[in-house]
Amino acid sequence: MTVLDEIKRRRTFAIISHPDAGKTTLTEKLLLYGGAIHLAGSVKARKTSRYAVSDWMEIEKQRGISVTSSVLNFDYNGCRVNILDTPGHADFSEDTYRTLMAVDSAVMVIDVAKGVEAQTKKLFKVCSSRGIPIFTFVNKIDHFGKNPFDLMADIEDVLGIRSCPMNWPIGINGNYTGIFDRETEIAHLFIKDNAHGTKKLEVVSGKLTDEAITSRLDPDIISSLKDDLELLDEAGDPFDAQRVASGELTPMFFGSAMTNFGVEPFLKKFLELAPPPMERKTLEGSVSPENPAFSGFVFKIQANMDPKHHDRIAFMRICSGVFEKGMSVLHRQSGKMIRLSQPQQFLATERTTVEKAYPGDIIGIFDTGELGVGDTVCDKKHPVTFSDFPVFPPELFGRLSPVSSMKRKQFLRGVGQLAQEGAIQVYSQPYIMESFIIGAVGQLQFEVLKYRLQKEYNVDVRLEQLPYTTARWTENNTPSEDLVGIDNALVVYDVKKRPVYLLPNEWQAGWLIERNPKVKFLETPPII
Ligand code: G4P
Repeated sequence: MTVLDEIKRRRTFAIISHPDAGKTTLTEKLLLYGGAIHLAGSVKARKTSRYAVSDWMEIEKQRGISVTSSVLNFDYNGCRVNILDTPGHADFSEDTYRTLMAVDSAVMVIDVAKGVEAQTKKLFKVCSSRGIPIFTFVNKIDHFGKNPFDLMADIEDVLGIRSCPMNWPIGINGNYTGIFDRETEIAHLFIKDNAHGTKKLEVVSGKLTDEAITSRLDPDIISSLKDDLELLDEAGDPFDAQRVASGELTPMFFGSAMTNFGVEPFLKKFLELAPPPMERKTLEGSVSPENPAFSGFVFKIQANMDPKHHDRIAFMRICSGVFEKGMSVLHRQSGKMIRLSQPQQFLATERTTVEKAYPGDIIGIFDTGELGVGDTVCDKKHPVTFSDFPVFPPELFGRLSPVSSMKRKQFLRGVGQLAQEGAIQVYSQPYIMESFIIGAVGQLQFEVLKYRLQKEYNVDVRLEQLPYTTARWTENNTPSEDLVGIDNALVVYDVKKRPVYLLPNEWQAGWLIERNPKVKFLETPPII
């Protein structure tokens, strides 16, 4: 197979949803079809908690599974499928946003009874602002649900995108008994069992005129389906690959992940329609996946996958060129050459060493502390910098110190590593050696930080929340002496020793900006 063939057969995507819509179940079923797992339930075991730290901790006990599941690959119908998992909890949405930078498309799971929910809306916005094509899977049609036209209207009103149903639920008043495939014109009916929908449902398929179908469907249902289909043909948006690629249209599929109904047809059609790796922007211009010069970026770092060894794995998306085990590449941010040794790829429950990988693939690199989230690695003769990586302005700040000064060494190491992982943002103050200022996007990040320092580095910490809500960097790292009106700001320094001004509120930030018209203030750190 040529490199071009390899690129064209890659499908790298994430599944996004509001908690409980069925993301975990759908992922698991896709893996089953891909032969990546043999037992339902293995993904379920690692499901990220939604609301409580205690659940999160519980999940962390399963870390082995949790981490290897965060990037999964398998082959199906000639495609190499790479699924990137995203955390469920809103406080970790930063991780999710970063993961979305590494995909070429996204599958949005919606609960048929609930329609578009808050978290889906947020994640959708990130995808659409980045031009990521979105495919919709309306889940749980084995249960009572909303009218499909209402769901289409919901998607359009809330998300501002038109939808194009590829299949249509059969049934009236929210009671569904199957789906009708608009392309093949075949109806698939499920026969409900009495195992509360936990089993794969038995399915009967045929044309709407076939006895097998007519004998199972009320004439009212058939005529209502025909009316719906006519309306869709006349007034609905036809499938248009161009509009899907530009994020104006989402192909919509109905099914039920739990009962395995409509999942495999969805997977087949999705892989056919979803885009392979595309061109990506860098500060130096666009990079095509077909460009032979290697490039990629780190979108996630996970430390302590094996707590005994304090190892760190940098997850890297390959954007161009062919990766070969042991190759040396330029780390753009430090200007140093690094060797990418022991690259890993991830199957559902195991890691394997990879010899070669292509654009679209995700590899895990053992990292000794050089790489940071958002960093670029590339061919030294063709340096590029992936730049549109989102950095989130921290909104919560606290002072973190070890309870016992005897634990200072572990404390420094733990805070340093977790900062590089992107779990928190760390700032220091001149002459203050025994504590750091920590910035976070959500409260749960603080809780998890304390927990992980205790568990992984054996350090008990104190965290005193500080009355600041916003931070400002300056374009040219303007020192505090050159600014006026910083009385209400706390001056701290980030890990790259750049001054950062922490302010109690947006109003104070506005005031500072007004008083220093010659200085360009930034809400997030400069890229390099
Ligand atoms: P999430 O990752 O998006 O949070 O959702 P998850 O897959 O965990 O699914 C949430 C709940 O919805 C689960 O029930 C799951 O079994 C159920 N579910 C998923 N797909 C379907 C479907 O097609 N039909 C129906 N009826 N239910 C579905 P749970 O009670 O929270 O967990 P469990 O006891 O089933 O494990």
